[in-house]
Amino acid sequence: MNKSNYAWLMTESKPAHRWLFLSIMVGILSGIVIIIQSKLLSTIIDQVYLHHATLHTLSLLLIGFCLLIFLRVGFSALREIISFNSAKTIKTNLREKCFAHLMTLAPNQLSALKTGELTSTLIEQIEALHGFFADYFPQMVITVVLPLIILITVFTQNWLAGLLLLITAPLIPLFMALIGMGTAKLNQDNFEALSRMSAYFLDLLQGLTTLSLFNQARAQFNTIQTISNDYREKTMRILRIAFLSTATLELFSTISIAIIAVYLGLGLLGFLKIGFSGVHITLAQALFILLLAPEFFMPLRQLGTFYHARAEAIGAATEIINILKTNSNTKKPSSPVLFSEKNILINMEEVDFAYSDNKKILDHFSLTAPQGSCIAITGPSGVGKSTLLQLIAKFIYPQSGAIFANGINIMDIDDDSWREHITLLHQQIRLFHGSIFDNITLANLNASKNEVELAAQLAGVLDFTQHLPQKLNTPIGEQNSGLSGGQAQRVALARIILKDTPIVLLDEPTSHLDNANASIILNLLGTWRGKKTVIIATHDQKIVEMVDHVYELKLLGEKN
Ligand SMILES: Nc1ncnc2c1ncn2[C@@H]1O[C@H](COP(=O)(O)OP(=O)(O)O)[C@@H](O)[C@H]1O
Ligand SMILES: [Mg+2]
Repeated sequence: MNKSNYAWLMTESKPAHRWLFLSIMVGILSGIVIIIQSKLLSTIIDQVYLHHATLHTLSLLLIGFCLLIFLRVGFSALREIISFNSAKTIKTNLREKCFAHLMTLAPNQLSALKTGELTSTLIEQIEALHGFFADYFPQMVITVVLPLIILITVFTQNWLAGLLLLITAPLIPLFMALIGMGTAKLNQDNFEALSRMSAYFLDLLQGLTTLSLFNQARAQFNTIQTISNDYREKTMRILRIAFLSTATLELFSTISIAIIAVYLGLGLLGFLKIGFSGVHITLAQALFILLLAPEFFMPLRQLGTFYHARAEAIGAATEIINILKTNSNTKKPSSPVLFSEKNILINMEEVDFAYSDNKKILDHFSLTAPQGSCIAITGPSGVGKSTLLQLIAKFIYPQSGAIFANGINIMDIDDDSWREHITLLHQQIRLFHGSIFDNITLANLNASKNEVELAAQLAGVLDFTQHLPQKLNTPIGEQNSGLSGGQAQRVALARIILKDTPIVLLDEPTSHLDNANASIILNLLGTWRGKKTVIIATHDQKIVEMVDHVYELKLLGEKN
């Protein structure tokens, strides 16, 4: 799992390869500047201490030293910017990919995903990849190249010091790997806990009124507490490992540097001759090596601090891959038909549909609806009326049989192009945060103010907005808050009128409206008669009396 996640992260880095390369180059250049700077510093100290050089003779070296400081600052700022951009490119790309993938899923597949989890994945978990691409990935390459350059430099000064570095260096990654092995799994658990928590919070917030009504709000506190505690413990476990690995790193690099320092000291005092090819070590040389020794371990130590970013990314990858793996439950046509006809004959032929294997909703169901016809679908609750409308809207797909529009299977028609021809008034109305006006114009963003007002009037929206201080600009909250069920339904109806499509699907349009207001629907049916094809799922006797044709659905027995 970890390996494949890692491989996946590597493939996802492709769009930012140029940035990543730049970031690595700048990192290495900045390392080389440190080597030159150390050389300068050791020479300066040697000159001052042993050769009593004056400020005047050293001025060139000092200026060079200062310039290098600025260069390093510039490089680190540059690297910061480049790294940020590379991670941003990858994250944006990935988010677009996830959204594009979600759009290929059928709407009912989408609604089966938990909103809280989905949001957590798209926002937090993709964000969690930032450190991996911005820091860990470039540092990984730098950690291989830069110590090598330093090692070669040290070898040119003194082979034994070089050898000491060479021997101690591999111990660090070894210990790090041992410690790090468990972290990826822990991080994955952590993200699962976070997703679960997000999903739960969202559900709870959305259902708070209902829960309070049943006196259950308090009881939920305990569940939240358990979930949060679980999350806290998992996070602490990861932190413990992160601290432990940093401590290990520090310990090993400090020991190595100390050994080298002791060796150099003994060499300077003349107690040790090995490694100096018979010559006494100079102060400049010893200082240069001593300054380079910590720099040799620096990239590794930095990699160590970024190690959790790697584990975090590998953990987060699982959920993202899961979203991208959710297969669309249908094959999309390779070249979808763009549909642009005004006169549409709908033919459902022998359609079979079931949500699960053991319960068929539609069994060889056929229906014909010529343009301008008005059709009612009746039957007891749960029989499949809403399902039938969703099939026509292409929110779900038949298992066998087909729905044709002027002889073209709607499965072959481009989704957007098909939905330009139909509107569906859902049984559960969903309005969005914004004004009533905004919610209506959603149907046709090019509509003029007059057109919106006309639609609002026909749908009976003006009847209640005229008593409100802000009229049509009255804001509504999420989940229709601020409106009654009937009012929300009228707003949705105005939306449908404004969209003005040849086919209109209405799912129990009078269920929220009282008798007086049901006449709004009846009037609309009157004006649409002969022009629009209207298919209505309904129990309402008045509607049934008005339509051209009634299809009565019957409950099919459950298969065991
Ligand atoms: N998304 C779904 N997943 C699984 N079963 C569903 C889904 N939607 C509806 N059903 C089931 O399919 C049957 C028909 O539902 P529906 O079409 O909403 O009936 P109606 O609109 O006639 O009341 C019901 O038994 C319902 O429980
Ligand atoms: Mg229904």
